[in-house]
Amino acid sequence: MRLKKHFLFIFSILYISTFVAQERKVILLEENWKFKKGNPDNAHQIDYKDNNWQTVSVPHDWAIYGPFDKEIDKQVVKITQNGEKKATEKTGRTGALPYIGEAWYRKTFTIDKKDANKKIILLFEGAMSQPKVFINGKKVGEWNYGYNYFNFDITEFIKTDTKNKLAVHLNNMGLSSRWYPGAGLYRKVQLIIKNKNSILQWGTFITTPKISENSAKVNMKTKVSNPNLILETKIKNANGLVVASLKSNTSFQNEFDQNILVKSPVLWSIENPYLYTAETTVFLDDKIQDKKTTKFGIRSIAYKPQKGFFLNGKHTKFKGVCLHHDLGPIGTAVNKAALRRQLQILKDMGTNAIRSAHNMPSIEQLELCDEMGFLFLAESFDEWAKPKVKNGYNRFFEKDVEKDIINLVHATRNHPSIVMWSAGNEVPDQWGSLGAKRAKMIQDIFHREDPTRPVTVGMDQVKATMASGFGAVMDIPGLNYRTHLYKEAYEKFPQGFILGSETASTVSSRGIYKFPVEKASMKQYDDLQSSSYDLEYCSWSNLPEDDFVLQDDNDWVLGEFVWTGFDYLGEPTPYDSYWPSRSSYFGINDLAGLPKDRFYLYRSKWNKKDTTLHILPHWNWKGREGKKTPVFVYTSFDSAELFVNGKSMGIQKKNNTSPLERYRLMWMDVVYNPGSLKVVAFDKEGKPAQEKEIFTAGKPYKLVLDANRKTIKANGKDISFVTVSVVDKKGIPCPTATNQLNFKVTGNGSFKAVCNGDATSLELFHLPKMKLFSGKLVVLVQADKKPGEIKLKVTGKSLKTATIKITSK
Ligand code: GAL
Repeated sequence: MRLKKHFLFIFSILYISTFVAQERKVILLEENWKFKKGNPDNAHQIDYKDNNWQTVSVPHDWAIYGPFDKEIDKQVVKITQNGEKKATEKTGRTGALPYIGEAWYRKTFTIDKKDANKKIILLFEGAMSQPKVFINGKKVGEWNYGYNYFNFDITEFIKTDTKNKLAVHLNNMGLSSRWYPGAGLYRKVQLIIKNKNSILQWGTFITTPKISENSAKVNMKTKVSNPNLILETKIKNANGLVVASLKSNTSFQNEFDQNILVKSPVLWSIENPYLYTAETTVFLDDKIQDKKTTKFGIRSIAYKPQKGFFLNGKHTKFKGVCLHHDLGPIGTAVNKAALRRQLQILKDMGTNAIRSAHNMPSIEQLELCDEMGFLFLAESFDEWAKPKVKNGYNRFFEKDVEKDIINLVHATRNHPSIVMWSAGNEVPDQWGSLGAKRAKMIQDIFHREDPTRPVTVGMDQVKATMASGFGAVMDIPGLNYRTHLYKEAYEKFPQGFILGSETASTVSSRGIYKFPVEKASMKQYDDLQSSSYDLEYCSWSNLPEDDFVLQDDNDWVLGEFVWTGFDYLGEPTPYDSYWPSRSSYFGINDLAGLPKDRFYLYRSKWNKKDTTLHILPHWNWKGREGKKTPVFVYTSFDSAELFVNGKSMGIQKKNNTSPLERYRLMWMDVVYNPGSLKVVAFDKEGKPAQEKEIFTAGKPYKLVLDANRKTIKANGKDISFVTVSVVDKKGIPCPTATNQLNFKVTGNGSFKAVCNGDATSLELFHLPKMKLFSGKLVVLVQADKKPGEIKLKVTGKSLKTATIKITSK
């Protein structure tokens, strides 16, 4: 009997899914695109011969394969927002990768004869940049801003008796960005085939305006193509069980407005990111016309003057990081495995929020934040009408700003993770009354499209925004750096709170330490690296602790978004006029995703679940014997004792003498002698609670591999990130090793890329060889579509070879 029931259940699932498939089909245009750089004549034409073009899969970033070249996008500019008074030659500002120029993508697809009467939508989630889209030789539309989602109704351009030809022209201008923007169809492209009587694209808007322990009011607005339709919404819990439903036959013009009661709601939170699914079905004369599912969360947000931000009534500070959209060695081509890894690393650090600097996030990133419990600050622009870079968004602002905001909001508003919009970052329009008017105009568009979330702008010209009224206009005044102005801004602005929309911009290179150990602004060294003692910052920025003090001592500070969670391509401050230097030093984690020391500083403060005990620097200082070599400990404990080769260096306790001493333990007078460095941390009662010991290593002897995931999906996209390090004969890590390594992947997967986190390396990410940087690097191994075993073999001269097996299912 049980068996029979089971069988029936499976049968009904299959039946429903084939049935649903007829209502609406979503086709991912992923493989077999033809790609060519340049602008050959007639490339949009239906019969254009593209056989000899390169075959690529989308998402695709044409520029990440390099080579790095200092002449690319060399900008002789004065960066006024960095306080520069004189123009200087900036190399590597946009990553020194060949993103500039025109290119075409072409793809053939067929539409089933049965779908001849259907409506067909072509959806892009971003295209870098200025895409012009053609179907069968005819132009269907264009979209200027490379970071936005856009779609076209291509019904009238489609043929069902023959193949259809899609062609996309892209054009990236030099001087159009302040970081590596990537190039190409770097996000998903999809076809949506549905009935003429159907739910409009991005036509669903779900909010949860009233929540109590017993019930939640779920408001669902659904725009449809025809006012005579009937709409049914079923709400399913995370197990797929229907917990509420409502059928409505009254639409207001073409919009249904349903209020649905969900009993005993499970709230979406950082700790328990619980997601419901709304399944909406559209009927005409009892016949199903369309069916669509939307994930959402039931949660409340409130920003209270003097008190801060509340999620579901619980006071919550933003412990956030800013992220640029590139994924290091794989560039800007969206990859969910790479995004998930970033978020896992950040979760372990105790991060609870992400800011998509300085543009629209990928849908994949939002989906992951919904699933994993991150709050999201979704940003839109780095420029409005006034330029930062000559060919930036200022060229499109007047004409496009409204439609760009509409698409941002409509495409992403159902993600519970988004708790705030950002209308811009350090826009030069902060000066003058026209800027304040623009701020109001833009914020009003956000409010009109989404009355449930506030709007901020990251402001660096705080005094100017006080004078112009700009800062008073915004729902949430966001301060970028300017820690010395927080108090004044809080008092002068009317809102009653301040957000650290961008903080710290401390610079460091993983595993590199400089002497003497001292606090310094814009410090430069001959090797173009920055010190991991975490005491170096920019002329406009500060150390993490300056923000910690503000965050911890004031409820009216909503939280912070540190610049940045990971290093990114481009903007190699403080070396932006030095070559070779092509990626940032700001990251808490490096470009390979490996933690720098700073990771543990943030973790010691942000991760309340786990303890942190981390020592720096490494203890391999040949030539520094007998010299002062300060030791810092980043820990969640309040005090600790340090030992060098068993000899106590004394106990340090966090104290209020200075911001640094409040959050780090520092032994400034330690003298280097090879051997062991040990720290013993004490609990509140003063009892030893945890210890950590590091040792001076001998010669590099053996390679060690560690995969972040040993089982991956056989879908042609999933990635295992394998950290490669080198140890001596005793197994002690060699923190200064720079050995040249080679990689070979066999079996049902391939070598995808490699990265060592060195901002000055000109080795190419996609070639299977690279030098270790500070003893480490990361190899990306990608699954094929065929399941099976994948083997990565790593070799290096005079080193014991290592292999690792990864299973792809
Ligand atoms: C900020 C800016 C960021 C980045 C950062 C570097 O002023 O908003 O995009 O340039 O400085 O410190």
